[in-house]
Amino acid sequence: MKLHIVKNYDELSHAAAEKVAHIVKSNPKVVLGLPTGSTPLGMYKELIDMNKRKEISFKEVITFNLDEYQGLPREDVNSYYRFMWDNFFSHIDIVKENTNIPNGMADDVEKECTAYESRIEKAGGIDLMILGIGNNGHIGFNEPAQFFGGITHRVKLTENTIEANSRFFGAIDRVPRYAITMGIKSIMHCRSIMLLANGKAKAEAIKKALEGPITPELPASVLQLHRDLTVIVDKEAGSLLSCR
Ligand code: PGA
Repeated sequence: MKLHIVKNYDELSHAAAEKVAHIVKSNPKVVLGLPTGSTPLGMYKELIDMNKRKEISFKEVITFNLDEYQGLPREDVNSYYRFMWDNFFSHIDIVKENTNIPNGMADDVEKECTAYESRIEKAGGIDLMILGIGNNGHIGFNEPAQFFGGITHRVKLTENTIEANSRFFGAIDRVPRYAITMGIKSIMHCRSIMLLANGKAKAEAIKKALEGPITPELPASVLQLHRDLTVIVDKEAGSLLSCR
């Protein structure tokens, strides 16, 4: 594991964007796994700027998003489809057909999950998966559980996540209860992983993920077993780490 503790959110965003830019430059057809949430917003902004300055191109890049709410139409302001287009894809030269996000409106969810995995496989697998982490240690929507989840599947969100995400929905009862997420197996299968976290609220999850026992009760702890993991945290998120 490579651990970088940086000063603040701006530095985190810059370091993460630099790593993505490096991999895109060395392989223009790279396959990226992408997260939503507040954490990667700064990184996306930096990548948009680099793209505008023509330092990098996403023309041949393929992307797979980690997750999507179930039951929200794509055009819903809170769908992860909208999030990705509003905050990243619309501002870069990516080809729409090369972007993949689970379809939260699929009638047959199981079929959608299997098809999503097949698309990842057909693309040759994911080269770099970028992850945020929930306060409860979730990655994607892989919530604390008794077992590590497998491949892309439908999940019931925990109260903790529903509450954390209600800030975007205005009211807690508007937050969808289910989602589709890449599973732990899908994530661990990626050739490299970059985990990002900032702020005090993430300090405990980061400490447990990197230094605690490997347990499905703290899903991100499984990342300790990945052979190419880079962790970038700001001082606050890294404040409880004993190796800091
Ligand atoms: P955040 O979410 O980036 O908005 O903090 C991360 C997550 O819940 O995985």
